[in-house]
Amino acid sequence: MLVEKNVSLQPFNTFGIMARAQALLRVQHLSDLEAVVADPSWREVPKLVLGGGSNLVFTGDVKPLVLKIELKGMRLLPEETPDAKAHLVEVGAGESWHGLVAWTLAQGLPGLENMALIPGTVGAAPVQNIGAYGVELQDRFDSLDAFDLLTGQVFTLNAAQCGFGYRDSVFKHPASTSALGSGMGLAGRAVILRVRMRLPKAWKPELDYLDLTKKREAWIAEQVAQGQVSAGGAPQPSAQQIFDWVCEIRRAKLPDPSQIGNAGSFFKNPTVTPEQCADIIARDPKIVHYHLDDGRIKLAAGWLIDACGWKGKSIGRAGVYEKQALVLVNRGQGEHAATGGEVMTLARAIQTSVYERFGIRLEPEPLVL
Ligand code: EPU
Repeated sequence: MLVEKNVSLQPFNTFGIMARAQALLRVQHLSDLEAVVADPSWREVPKLVLGGGSNLVFTGDVKPLVLKIELKGMRLLPEETPDAKAHLVEVGAGESWHGLVAWTLAQGLPGLENMALIPGTVGAAPVQNIGAYGVELQDRFDSLDAFDLLTGQVFTLNAAQCGFGYRDSVFKHPASTSALGSGMGLAGRAVILRVRMRLPKAWKPELDYLDLTKKREAWIAEQVAQGQVSAGGAPQPSAQQIFDWVCEIRRAKLPDPSQIGNAGSFFKNPTVTPEQCADIIARDPKIVHYHLDDGRIKLAAGWLIDACGWKGKSIGRAGVYEKQALVLVNRGQGEHAATGGEVMTLARAIQTSVYERFGIRLEPEPLVL
């Protein structure tokens, strides 16, 4: 077992924050994890599971043993039954999520296209139940296999057992040391090894998200103008077409982490009661809000932050992205990168402004360590 010491984590977090791991193990096989559990000097040490590092803010050096997941492999599983309604694809936790989306489309297996270009690894995708443009991981999830760092056993979880919520799952909550059961957290205890995605054979495009609806309308108008279709008889876009649109939308408003350090949306979109929303609308009629099935109302955190005047602003080397106020960015690079402390100072200043103006507490989306 090769544990590397005093390793820079700057290349392993998309925010590009400088931090060091006291100890880091690259996990390329199940046997690497078995060795950790078998070794008395590592068994009791707290662990941090690191995927693509796209949802993390390091505020200091990392004391737990960092398990950097590099488990590879993507395959279409044999049909469960002759009349199976979905294709099952099994993917190693260390594969890139966007690579998986592109690979499934190349195999003629649509279903993940709305989640194109989400940074990070496949193993990290269930942790925060990633989602974009109307589709969440849980909509296409079948099951996953994970390694229990407490017992050394591999176990399987279905969607219900993962406890998916909005950008949430059992993997985000602290682990207990009791037997595996319902309602408990698995952070620091479960290492996701591989994920199985369920891609329905009866595919239909998901175009309800406003940005995609606009792309589709422009696409139809273009075809009508070229005389290819009549206005009433527009064809449906293909999954590849939707993939291309999602990539265009994301590239236009979200910074590419390889160019500008960031961790995607920095805050969750908050939910409020209809009464709270009515109160805010009375003062700010333009507030962007969506009605949820449970009667509550989701507010666009990006709009709230923008309305407080933060777009494009900086504190130190941490900034608010010019094109999407929900994304905080690292305005420095390399040795001059923003520290996690600077990012959190900016985050707290934003939280204070939004609370003072709207009475709403924004909750960070990435894990702050
Ligand atoms: N808005 C503003 N100003 C801004 C930013 C947004 O007025 O600076 C308004 C927009 O005009 C729009 C609304 O807020 O009307 C929502 O913005 P957008 O469509 O960009 O989506 P979002 O709610 O900000 C969420 C996810 C993203 C995901 C997009 C698309 C969260 C926390 N974020 O962002 O996910 O890509 O929807 O589905 O749920 C991520 O989690 O890292 C992430 C990028």
